[in-house]
Amino acid sequence: MRWEIISNLKSYRVSLAFLLLFFLGCAAPVNKKNEAQASDTGAGAKLVQGACSSCHKFSGQPETKFNLKAPDLMWGGVKYQRAWLERWLQGQEENLYPNGYRWDQAGGSEKHMTVSREDAVAVADYFETNLLDERVAKNAIDLSQFTEQERDFGAVIFKQYSCFGCHQIQEDGKNVGGPISANLYDSGNRYNVDWLYRFALNPQDFTPHSGEYLADLSGLGVRYVVGYLMTLGVKDYKFYEPWKSETFQKADANRGAAVYKNYCTQCHGMEGKGDGPGAAGLDPKPAVHAVLPLSDYPEDYLYNVVYYGGKTVGKSPDMPDWGLTIPPQDLADLIAYLRATFKGAPEEAPSAP
Ligand code: HEC
Ligand code: HEC
Ligand code: HEC
Repeated sequence: MRWEIISNLKSYRVSLAFLLLFFLGCAAPVNKKNEAQASDTGAGAKLVQGACSSCHKFSGQPETKFNLKAPDLMWGGVKYQRAWLERWLQGQEENLYPNGYRWDQAGGSEKHMTVSREDAVAVADYFETNLLDERVAKNAIDLSQFTEQERDFGAVIFKQYSCFGCHQIQEDGKNVGGPISANLYDSGNRYNVDWLYRFALNPQDFTPHSGEYLADLSGLGVRYVVGYLMTLGVKDYKFYEPWKSETFQKADANRGAAVYKNYCTQCHGMEGKGDGPGAAGLDPKPAVHAVLPLSDYPEDYLYNVVYYGGKTVGKSPDMPDWGLTIPPQDLADLIAYLRATFKGAPEEAPSAP
């Protein structure tokens, strides 16, 4: 009991010290920021502090849109892709809010003020140096290995989690979805992915009490939907194709045999005859690899059924998704083993899907 009190006291002191440090840490950059602003007499600063701040807020706390005239821009230096921001300021982008930002007021969506190319560059410079947000971490999400399948998961989430109810996307060249908030069909050319990711973790940190919505998504769900948004509007988005990676070039069927034994034989059987002990209670039965021409299966299909599971390719959900369980090199070795071993039984072989 006493020990507990002492240790509580201790942690209390530790948190006090921590809080102090935290405040000191905060105070320093704020001072620096003010100096930078005061000494910055460039065209960007003048515009922002003059024309723009009659509608937008560039400092202070986020608040409900019903107190605002226009979106808060305290984090303007990390929210947008710079090229988009410059185009927006020159009037080369469509409005984001189909019914106007303040849909509760008459007037609807009005044309935004425009500035010259030179001023747009100056404002973007100002944003980049002054409107940062330490909550937005660089590279907190890495989409360099984002696959087409993940994009498809993201698209499903977008509809299942009501995003479609309030944000428009494009289908067959037409705007679809509820026009409550910002349209998202060009997200991939607009947002900085670091901001988008941080926003998705808790929209209320940026737009509280404005009708926004926090979805119950896991880490992977957030990855899928953020990745999906980053593909919207992007021509020829380059998806990662794992089967073309170095891991697959280095794959070894002999090593893959051990992986097959460890993870697959329980259902598919030692020789791939679909007669492992796990097969007994299953309907449909595990595929009989021994008669399937897995050697000729399309690489994306074979990868996706093993990595994301049967349900992803329209088969039974009893075929598990192995992506989180089996490390990348083992998975590549396993697929090399499947291809080298199962070439179909000439008499009864069905054709590849
Ligand atoms: C008369 C009020 C007004 C002025 C002045 C104004 N804006 Fe805006 N701004 C708005 C409104 C309203 C929107 C939302 C428009 C929409 O997309 O439908 C907006 C949107 C934006 C956006 C996109 C915001 C987002 O996240 O959706 C940026 C960036 C922006 N303004 C920057 C500026 C800058 C920089 C200036 C000064 C050069 C400026 N604005 C001047 C009203 C204003
Ligand atoms: C009930 C309506 C509603 C739903 C559902 C909803 N949102 Fe939003 N969203 C908002 C509102 C409101 C905002 C704040 C901006 C504004 O004032 O409109 C917002 C902001 C955003 C923004 C930032 C836009 C910008 O330029 O500032 C993104 C990105 C976004 N939502 C994505 C999503 C995703 C992804 C989902 C689904 C998981 C979703 N939203 C579901 C209402 C909604
Ligand atoms: C829990 C039992 C189970 C385990 C373990 C299992 N599978 Fe399966 N697998 C199935 C079932 C059931 C099907 C058939 C799905 C259907 O027909 O709808 C299947 C189907 C497949 C198919 C699809 C064949 C086709 O024609 O599309 C492949 C490939 C496959 N499994 C590979 C593997 C690999 C590789 C492993 C080991 C990493 C593995 N499975 C582990 C149950 C299992």
